[in-house]
Amino acid sequence: MSPAYPAYPAPPVPVTVRVPAKVNVQLAVGGLRPDGYHDLANVFLAVSLHDDVTATPADTLRITVEGPDAGRVPQDRTNLAARAAELLAARHGIEPHVHLHIAKDIPVAGGMAGGSADAAGAVLACDALWGTGASRDELLEICAEVGSDVPFSLVGGAALGRGRGELLTPVETGGTFHWVFAVADGGLSTPAVYRECDRLREAAGTGSGVADVPAPDPSAELLDALRNGDPRALAAALNSDGGANDLQPAAVSLRPSLEAVLRAGTEAGALAGIVSGSGPTTAFLTEDGAAARKVADGLRASGTCRAARVATGPADGARVITR
Ligand code: C5P
Repeated sequence: MSPAYPAYPAPPVPVTVRVPAKVNVQLAVGGLRPDGYHDLANVFLAVSLHDDVTATPADTLRITVEGPDAGRVPQDRTNLAARAAELLAARHGIEPHVHLHIAKDIPVAGGMAGGSADAAGAVLACDALWGTGASRDELLEICAEVGSDVPFSLVGGAALGRGRGELLTPVETGGTFHWVFAVADGGLSTPAVYRECDRLREAAGTGSGVADVPAPDPSAELLDALRNGDPRALAAALNSDGGANDLQPAAVSLRPSLEAVLRAGTEAGALAGIVSGSGPTTAFLTEDGAAARKVADGLRASGTCRAARVATGPADGARVITR
């Protein structure tokens, strides 16, 4: 007769976590702080492009990546996913032995928090695999240590990020927004885009320090549009004077070809077009799903981008999809 319970604990099985990309519907950038960061009012929206991070038991820490851009992702301990696994293991006094496999669909170095998503996915997957039982707050602390955008990748939905972007409060959304993302050839370095933002401010004579730049604040008009699920009102906020993304002039200065992409998207019928975060991905808001498919077709025909991807937001944060 077989026993009611196995004689030994069941061996751990792979754990897969799905994590969303994000777009910053507002990215207000304050002055350069003494610690090298900028204070932000960062309105994040998670969108339905995902990476899947699978954690499997291993004798050492190993990273593998699959997907069209896998060659551009580090497969060593400099990968943010490895860093997240190491921080969780160190806090719990265990070795960070795990094989993390990343199935990558989020554009690499594109301003859509792909690396941050993988770190958030890794910390959640390792917590489940190792049975470390970390609290939500501990997971968020580890995420913030890895990078400013990582806590939002864990949380998903829509949120306002203050501080350097890691201090999150939820933002209410009253509906689904339809987006098209124009993926550029190659990436842009986030620190380089922030440096260019400072340089442009200095060149304009306004200064780039905390004392020179007004403290960043979220736009009431934009938060209302999100709460009401109103794409036209959100588009008006995105198109408002000075724009919703303070990093956009810097991204365009480093990559002037983005002007043509932004033009092509609006000519194809988008309600608004912005650079996503530090770029070079551009994000186009549309009225509905049918309009999004039409804008994506127009962008592909324009020849101004490598690919055009349709997605909706808000999307869920990091979650275990298999165990
Ligand atoms: O936090 P994270 O490592 O993702 O940030 C990458 C770089 O982006 C920082 O080293 C800094 O140059 C820039 N950054 C910034 N202000 C922020 C967030 C990021 O200047 N609030």
